[in-house]
Amino acid sequence: MSNGGFIYDTDGNVLHAHGGCMIKHGDFWYWYGEDRRGDRYVSCYRSNDLRRWEFRRHVLTMGSECRPLHPGDTASLSENGRRINIERPKVLFCGKTGKFVMWAHYENGRDYREAAACIATCDKPDGDFIYHGHFRPFGHMSRDCTLFRDTDGASYFISASRDNADLHVYRLTDDLMNVESLVRVLFAGEYREAPAVFRRGQRYYMLTSACTGWEPNQGCFSESTGVGEEWSRLRNFGDKTTFHSQSAFVLPVGDDLYYFGDRWGGYPMSHPFDYSKSGYVILKLRFNDAGDPFIVWNDEFELPTV
Ligand code: DGJ
Repeated sequence: MSNGGFIYDTDGNVLHAHGGCMIKHGDFWYWYGEDRRGDRYVSCYRSNDLRRWEFRRHVLTMGSECRPLHPGDTASLSENGRRINIERPKVLFCGKTGKFVMWAHYENGRDYREAAACIATCDKPDGDFIYHGHFRPFGHMSRDCTLFRDTDGASYFISASRDNADLHVYRLTDDLMNVESLVRVLFAGEYREAPAVFRRGQRYYMLTSACTGWEPNQGCFSESTGVGEEWSRLRNFGDKTTFHSQSAFVLPVGDDLYYFGDRWGGYPMSHPFDYSKSGYVILKLRFNDAGDPFIVWNDEFELPTV
């Protein structure tokens, strides 16, 4: 396996789970991410060793069941028969409802102005998700996004707002189906994308990228004593291109943490841009004596033995 390149599933097919997330449920890690081929939006793979990935299902497609949450609302996974865009899908399991709840970024497939969040749910981690529609949290624009659940059960949706100028932190309702409050506006005017939040001991960290389309750029981190608390100023993470990647998520395994980034369009980046050439950068997070996270390039994917 070669860092930055493709990962293959157990059938030998290229794994498509871009801009995604990973959750552990039972004996398996489930990897969800964008799959832009044909009528697909989100695909799911699972593994019990973080190396062999079994394709499970295209969990959200143009043909998925649509069920609006409120009478009179609409929920559609196409526009006049055309694809829409579902980006950066993130999933959490809700103990209260027993549902796997997916939040993602919705665009109409024609332009990038919808800037909305969307939700889908499923009774199983790798079943057919039911799509519930898109909305703007409290009316705010919402693009690149992530979910984070804290150890006390509080869950947060974090997304780029005001045409990406600001990053909003929303606390979610207990059923994870709505935003409860806007708890923070971060990095106002700094145009941050690709948020990924993780916790190490009592410290919380957020990785973000700058806003340069598919081109990689200097990643940054910020830290805090709580997701809803004040966050520090941005400081550099990785090199000037974050090793030709953009943050997708950080996976905790035991006491260790692993950075997963998307290498959009491959390396060197395909011209014309070819999304299907996108690979993954996986590196163990290291911390200096001050507790600042950093990554060191490794030609091989850096994954734990589990
Ligand atoms: C950067 C975002 O982080 C990606 O998810 C994707 O939307 C690209 N922009 C599109 O240009």
